[in-house]
Amino acid sequence: SLPVQSVQEIVRNDPQSVPERYIQETKDRPLISNTLPSSLEIPIIDFSLLAKGDEDERRKLDLACKDWGFFQIINHGVAEEVLQKMKEAVRAFFELPLEEKKKYAMAENDLHGYGQAYVLSEDQKLDWCDIIVLFTLPPEIKRFKFWPLTIPGFKESVELFSTEVQKVIEEINANLSLLMGMDRDGLEKLQGKLKQGLRMNYYPPCLKPDLVLGISPHSDGGTLTLLLQDDEITGLQIKHKDDWIPVKPIPNSLVMNVGDVIEILSNGMYKSIEHRAVTNEKNSRISVAVFAFPEDEVEVSPVDSMVDDQNRPRMYRNVKYIDYVRHHLGGKMEEGKVHTDFV
Ligand code: SIN
Ligand code: FE2
Repeated sequence: SLPVQSVQEIVRNDPQSVPERYIQETKDRPLISNTLPSSLEIPIIDFSLLAKGDEDERRKLDLACKDWGFFQIINHGVAEEVLQKMKEAVRAFFELPLEEKKKYAMAENDLHGYGQAYVLSEDQKLDWCDIIVLFTLPPEIKRFKFWPLTIPGFKESVELFSTEVQKVIEEINANLSLLMGMDRDGLEKLQGKLKQGLRMNYYPPCLKPDLVLGISPHSDGGTLTLLLQDDEITGLQIKHKDDWIPVKPIPNSLVMNVGDVIEILSNGMYKSIEHRAVTNEKNSRISVAVFAFPEDEVEVSPVDSMVDDQNRPRMYRNVKYIDYVRHHLGGKMEEGKVHTDFV
C-alpha cells in the first residue's frame, strides 16, 4: 500500500482540499501571485552546433554550466513525435484508475515504481506531486513489473525516448570532457557508460498554489539530468543569485542541468543548482526527469586537469558514487527533505 495518499486522488475527491501536510512553512512558500515575471532566462544551447564541434557553442555550454547550471537545448535531434509519445505515455499512466496504478506501487525503501516522494516522518511537508520511477539503461536494469505494460504503446514510447535522449546526454558529456581538458571520451573513461532512470511527475492543479510546492528545493545527485516538460505550463524554478527564476518552456526543447557528480568532477567549476517546481490553479502539469548517473562503484573525484594547487585547489574528497548517494540521502533525511529524485 502507498505510504501517503495520492495527490491526484486528493484533488479528484475534493478540489478545494489542501491538507495541512502539504501546506509549506511560510518561509518556504512559493508566493506565485507576488512573483513578477522574470526577464532572466536560462541559456539556450544549440545542440546541432555542439554535435558539429562548433567551439563558440561549446564556450556557451561552458558559461551555462558555470553561471546557471541549467540550460535549454534546441535542435537536439530527437523527433517531436518521440517527445509527444513520451508525454502521452505519462498522461495515459496517470489517467489509469487508482487501483490499476497501485499494481505498480513502489515498495518501501525502493526507488522503482508508482508513489510519492519519499516520506520519512509524520510532520514532514509533502510535495504536490505523484510519480512513477522506471530505470531504463542499460537494458538489464529494467524491472518490468513496475512498467504499465497494459497501456498500448507505453513500453515502445518510453524505450524509444530513453535511447534517443541518452544520445543527447552522451554528446553533452563528451563536450564537457573537452571543456574539462580531456578527450571527448574522458568522462566516459572515468565514469563508465552512464546509467539512466526516469522519474515521471504528475502535478495536479492546486487551488492554493501559493501554499504548496510541486517538488521542494533540491539538487540532483547524479551526473546530468534532462527534463521533458509540457510546452505550455511553467512550473520549474531554479535558484539563481538568491532569486527563484522560472524556466519558461521552449516548445520541443529539452532542459538540462548539471548534477552533483559533474560539480565534483569539475572541482566546483560547474554547479549543481537547487531547483523546485510550483503548481498552478488551472492545469495539471507533467514532466519527465531523465537521470544519468554512474555505476555504484565508480570513484568520483575532481579530474586532474581541473585541479591546480596554486589557483584551484581541490574542493572535494574522493567518494564512491554509492557512498555519496547514501550520504546525500542521509543529509536530506536529517533535513526531512528526501526525494526519490535519485537522491
Ligand atoms: C520539474 O518537474 O520541472 C522538476 C522535476 C525535478 O526536479 O525532477
Ligand atoms: Fe530535480
